[in-house]
Amino acid sequence: MRPNADIDVLFSAQEIQNRVNKLADEITNSIGKEFLLISILKGSFVFSADLIRSLHRSGATPQIDFLTLSSYGSATQSSGHVEIKKDIDEIVKGKTILLVDDILESGRTLSFAKNILTDRGALSVELCVFLNKPGKRNVQIEAGFVGFDCPDKFVVGYGLDYAHYYRELPYVGFLR
Ligand code: IMP
Ligand code: MG
Repeated sequence: MRPNADIDVLFSAQEIQNRVNKLADEITNSIGKEFLLISILKGSFVFSADLIRSLHRSGATPQIDFLTLSSYGSATQSSGHVEIKKDIDEIVKGKTILLVDDILESGRTLSFAKNILTDRGALSVELCVFLNKPGKRNVQIEAGFVGFDCPDKFVVGYGLDYAHYYRELPYVGFLR
């Protein structure tokens, strides 16, 4: 059963919608309308689903694929070890890639993914994260496109989980 915790709202559903729409404009103005969007699972599936529809409104026509990487498992501490659980199907060589993740924290996940795609001959790899926790970086990496800067709290909702719970919340909050 889901742990029974109080949740304080950090970003409401309306704030998120407004920000995601603006982010889509920023992306198309910066990298153009044709790119391969790679959504890192599981955490970014809600963000990606909203983002691609906002990108459509901004005039973009992306290809879309999914990369499943290992992350926290069911705890709130990263193991520090990243591996591919399920690879993308699409060809990367010569393409502009928009790599989408839920949170940029230590930077290990995104730098791992970026290195793989660079090794496969991507033309460029742009990074887009829903939330940025700048205070927690271990690896030197920054995202060109950021939804919101996030305080150093463990947050849930909008695809983000605690032990695979809370992904369904339409807002982002933290457990009290
Ligand atoms: P990084 O490799 O440390 O940057 O880890 C990022 C990954 O850790 C994200 O893709 C999330 O899946 C997970 N993560 C980091 N912080 C949180 C959080 O506050 N709530 C839920 N998941 C988180
Ligand atoms: Mg994740």
